[in-house]
Amino acid sequence: MRFHVESISRKRKIFFAFAHLLLYNFLLLLSKINLTSEIMSLLKWKTEYSVGVQEIDNQHKKLVELINKLFDAMKQGQANAVLGQILNELSSYAFSHFKTEEKYFKLFDYVEAQKHREIHQTFVKEISKFKNAFDAGQITLSISIFAFLKDWLHNHILGEDMKYVDCFAKNGLVQSEL
Ligand SMILES: [Fe+2]
Ligand SMILES: [Fe+2]
Repeated sequence: MRFHVESISRKRKIFFAFAHLLLYNFLLLLSKINLTSEIMSLLKWKTEYSVGVQEIDNQHKKLVELINKLFDAMKQGQANAVLGQILNELSSYAFSHFKTEEKYFKLFDYVEAQKHREIHQTFVKEISKFKNAFDAGQITLSISIFAFLKDWLHNHILGEDMKYVDCFAKNGLVQSEL
């Protein structure tokens, strides 16, 4: 009898351990699916991205558009020549956008100008390094590159760019139609 009770309780333990493992794997799979769809989703312009200056907002919108264009072309399996062209467009547009922001930093004597300029320079270097490796056929475009570009823009606008909003506004640079 004692043996019988022990055996039931052991079976029960095994059952719970197995059920627990199944549940754990199921939750892990769900989080992976969520994560993948989060990475794969296109970047969307949000009103919280607005820095209150229409000229800069439009440039940020264009960067969002170019990152999405690159991802779309990649998903469609476009030729490397097409991807390289979009990558060039993205990198030169990012460069000219940085110049716009930096022009106002200088004009308004923005206190965090140096740090912000360095962040821009690091991005320009990274993207040109990537572009060179891509052109040389050493790397291919991947989801992780898209995720990097998407996260970089999102974090940069909400982090660094937002810091100049007050300074630009105080100097009378408010053109947003929001
Ligand atoms: Fe910036
Ligand atoms: Fe910016």
